Amino acid sequence: MRIDILSLFPEIIKSSLEHSIIKKALKKDLISIKYHNIREYSKNKQKKVDDYQYGGGSGMVLMIQPIYDCIKILKEDREYSNIIYLTPDGEKLNQSSSNKFSLSKNIILICGHYKGVDHRIREHLVTHEISIGDYVLSGGELAAAIFCDSIIRLIPGVLGNESSALTDSFQDNRLSEPIYTRPENYKGLKVPKILISGNNKDIERWRDKKSLERTKKYRPDLL
Ligand code: ADE
Repeated sequence: MRIDILSLFPEIIKSSLEHSIIKKALKKDLISIKYHNIREYSKNKQKKVDDYQYGGGSGMVLMIQPIYDCIKILKEDREYSNIIYLTPDGEKLNQSSSNKFSLSKNIILICGHYKGVDHRIREHLVTHEISIGDYVLSGGELAAAIFCDSIIRLIPGVLGNESSALTDSFQDNRLSEPIYTRPENYKGLKVPKILISGNNKDIERWRDKKSLERTKKYRPDLL
């Protein structure tokens, strides 16, 4: 998979995606991420990328030209089935949409900043608008990093143990069961006996029950 990210502050995203699992995926060439500073595509002498809103109103708006040109250049070399604008008023990202996006070959992510982007970008260039939650961030950069992390870990070969993505919370519309590791008894706080019983069938049944209990308690909307 190749991900091209258009942003005024690519460093914010880059620094979030240079560690742990994503770092390994990059090293193994399972993905490549290219960063494009929108400012570098500005045809303005001062490299201006934003302007005031037509009709008045506070906040600067990112202009169409640099983003249009950057996408045009990228599209000359390959096809992009998903051109995604990160925005709080987009469709909310969830595990099911992350699964779908993780199957993409090439993705473009557009990060807005200030008041957002000229609406013509959203109307004519973008295929999806994605939000990471009902709150407003200063820009789309952190949302882009979260989007990338959530889809990259689902790409086959990225996680050491393939099944660990399948047992994540939300993967089957359920929260995951409680997990424990050594020591068995920490200052009197004990690991549930069943997990050290060695009876795999009973353990599976227990995990299923606990997962259902936690979902009912914390996220009944999922059921
Ligand atoms: N940009 C600003 N806030 C955002 C959000 N909640 N989701 C996606 N992009 C954003």
